Amino acid sequence: MCGIVGYEGNREACDILIEALKRLEYRGYDSAGIAIWDNGAIKVERRKGKVEELRKIVCDGTFRGQIGLAHTRWATHGVPSERNAHPHKAGNVVVVHNGIIENYMELKNRLKEKGQEFLSDTDTEVIPHLIIDHMNDGMNFIDAVRMTLKELKGSYALGILKEDERILIAARKESPLIVGIGDGEYFIASDAPAIINRTNKFIFLEDNDIVILQNNTLKLINIDGETVERAIQRVQWTDAMAEKGGYKHFMLKEIFEQPRAISDTLLGRIKEEEGEINFDEIALPDIRKIQKIWMVACGTSYHACMIGKHVFEANLRIPVETDIASEFRYRDPIISEDDLLIVVSQSGETADTIAAMKEGKRKGAFTLSICNVLGSTLARDADGVIFTHAGPEIGVASTKAFTTQVSVIFMLMLFMGKKLDILNNQDIRKHILEIKRIPHKLQTILEMAPSIEEAARKYMSCKDFLYLGRGIQFPTVLEGALKLKEISYIHAEAYAAGEMKHGPIALIDENMPIVFVSPNDQTYKKTCSNMEEVTARRGRIILITDDKNHEMSKRVDTLFVVPDTIYELQPILSMAPLQLFAYYIANFLGTDVDQPRNLAKSVTVE
Ligand code: F6R
Repeated sequence: MCGIVGYEGNREACDILIEALKRLEYRGYDSAGIAIWDNGAIKVERRKGKVEELRKIVCDGTFRGQIGLAHTRWATHGVPSERNAHPHKAGNVVVVHNGIIENYMELKNRLKEKGQEFLSDTDTEVIPHLIIDHMNDGMNFIDAVRMTLKELKGSYALGILKEDERILIAARKESPLIVGIGDGEYFIASDAPAIINRTNKFIFLEDNDIVILQNNTLKLINIDGETVERAIQRVQWTDAMAEKGGYKHFMLKEIFEQPRAISDTLLGRIKEEEGEINFDEIALPDIRKIQKIWMVACGTSYHACMIGKHVFEANLRIPVETDIASEFRYRDPIISEDDLLIVVSQSGETADTIAAMKEGKRKGAFTLSICNVLGSTLARDADGVIFTHAGPEIGVASTKAFTTQVSVIFMLMLFMGKKLDILNNQDIRKHILEIKRIPHKLQTILEMAPSIEEAARKYMSCKDFLYLGRGIQFPTVLEGALKLKEISYIHAEAYAAGEMKHGPIALIDENMPIVFVSPNDQTYKKTCSNMEEVTARRGRIILITDDKNHEMSKRVDTLFVVPDTIYELQPILSMAPLQLFAYYIANFLGTDVDQPRNLAKSVTVE
């Protein structure tokens, strides 16, 4: 998704902005641009393609000035091109924008009738034109910005400069934006990793906040012009956490970080001796009244929700309904005030998941977010939040976010089970012991990386893959297939193994590898029968199991044996070989693993 960075201080802005922009590249984008103010003039440069192309042009000393903005664009309105790249300039006003202006057409037509000339196909361009229009009517700059914001329908994070004044205005509504507080200088960014090397002191802006940076001072007002106060928060993420640390890609680093990430997720929350889970951070309503749990998210986080359904229903005997966030609100879900709505999101900024949370709130449910990013919208606006503590996830393909989400879901089940008197201290102690072993078990799987890389080499030229699993391993294979397709661009489909006979079996021949995830659990025998059906049709099987002695394990094409654990936690262990398999295939194919084509890290538009 689009990225915004801004600087106001006493140092040259250009290098600072370009570096910050590079740190946002992971979000996915197709063009980049920069605007620097210097003594009453604003220089703007934009390029299609990578930030590096822009850097070559602007970082030669010609872009001088100590206040400026930069942007990476992920096309929504208008093709990726130089003319559609941000910043957009109208008169003496320059704007960068994340989000979507839903009523831009209507505004554009109105402004065109007044004689304003548009140079791009974007929705964004109406913003500087509207500001100019209000200034033409006699308003000062700040009021003109406020009035403009009032007219916009949709979402925005904005950075705004004006040619004849040394001023930077930033504003947000339903799109993330933070202010970094440095020593006599300020940064703005749509995501903390952009500026975490500069400061760890942040103000997380809220909807309708407007920040005015001028003469090294910061002023915060709302859309009505009233002064607002926001706390300065210190984030724990360090710069090193947002760097590759010797790995070829962020994704690989993040796969290998999972044992540490899960340990961090557990930290301070498991009390083994007492047989308790400590979630002091949330004040759930009376759990006994909960009639239904909803679990709603997108993509990988949705797969974690599907796992949650198994975990909660099997142990708590409370019905769980999972839903894809982009579908949820449109079917007017029948939510009651006694329901618990859990939204799961790495970024905490996924537009559809935020909308789902709002729908739940509107209907009176208690909303709980499981989220990785401090200060994000879902972390702030849900009634309760449990942080996954996975550390910054930079690779677009989600890995450690998923396994830490599953870890949180498991702990939440234990926490609720205790409150419901379904689980006693001894049960919980037993489960705690099991989850505490997960980081080590995961480590042993990661040590199998060379053999997984070998297997990836063997299958890298296959054009289609089928992934099959039953029960809790069905969401696991959905996630495994998603990993492969999003980073290698190879077609991969996942099915519940029992569905194979109802259609996908027609695809099976010696050319299509079939990835089975089948540990020795309650569905094992049934999945083994499915494997028999595949081998009978000359299908090649890649099997992930915890049972190396089974007859089937000796007959498959490729075998990965993972340690065993309890049913609820097995997806974490099965996931690691699937992640590595996808990674190595993509790496062999030479795709842009960390920023796969067309994808964005944080999907802030619906
Ligand atoms: C896939 C992936 C996406 C995200 C989805 C939701 O690897 O990363 O499918 O899981 O866009 O994002 P969050 O979790 O930030 O809400």
